[in-house]
Amino acid sequence: MDLGGLDKSRLPRHVAVIMDGNGRWARLRGKGRTEGHRRGTASVRAVVEMSRKLDIPYLSLYAFSTENWFRPKDEVHALMGMLEHYLTVEQPKMMRHGIRLLAIGDKDRLPRRVLSTLKHAERATRNNQGMTVLLALSYSGRSDIVGMVQRIARKVKEGKCGVQDINEEMVRAHVATSAIPDPDLLIRTSGEMRISNFFLWQIAYTELYITPTLWPDFREAEYLQALIEFQRRRRRFGRTDEQIAQPLPSLAVARELEDHS
Ligand code: IPE
Ligand code: IPE
Ligand code: MG
Repeated sequence: MDLGGLDKSRLPRHVAVIMDGNGRWARLRGKGRTEGHRRGTASVRAVVEMSRKLDIPYLSLYAFSTENWFRPKDEVHALMGMLEHYLTVEQPKMMRHGIRLLAIGDKDRLPRRVLSTLKHAERATRNNQGMTVLLALSYSGRSDIVGMVQRIARKVKEGKCGVQDINEEMVRAHVATSAIPDPDLLIRTSGEMRISNFFLWQIAYTELYITPTLWPDFREAEYLQALIEFQRRRRRFGRTDEQIAQPLPSLAVARELEDHS
């Protein structure tokens, strides 16, 4: 594959994607929304495969928000069916390519069959070391924060820690993404300039990339564009240009700079 000048030594460690625009893609073609979602799963495959090839260790996909439960029953049903199908047919490929699947969100709201397929996929792939794909399902950034507050409050109440012990590290350890680093790059397709209740705490210093391309049209070439644009950004983490000699790959590096200054 021609990487068009992409520097493989400065790739994001964690890419997060708000996969939006399936409905509009379908409407433009006079098709039903379900057809848009179906074509969208091909984009999921393309982005997962390319991330794996490039050795990007973490990919988060916003597949279904808490608010998406308010959509027409038929559409929710079709989406759940596709999710179940995707998890089933992709599992051998995940095993072959060393992909670990994790899901976050209010999973108990998922239909029983989807939940059991999901649990099965998580269990089967849990020791895979190549890459982690994090699916946000029935996810809400605000609920994630509420859950974190509840878990910490419980610890304080049980006397496991004091109020003065609550710090950023503790919060980080109690959100749904505690096991993985914050995203370096957040991609949103279909041009909407909003976060739609996806990661809130996690994107404090994430680079945002919003493209008008609709999700079913977002394939390898578009992804490559996003990664190249990411490498053009100067991540300052609040510092001045002079302090940042060269673009930084992650906040961890910024922390190191801080420690040594
Ligand atoms: C994204 O596409 C898929 C989900 C939110 C599940 P949409 O279905 O939101 O497509 P648009 O935004 O209506 O075009
Ligand atoms: C965001 O898309 C949620 C997902 C991509 C899963 P929406 O289509 O639900 O977002 P809004 O309603 O345009 O903000
Ligand atoms: Mg949408």
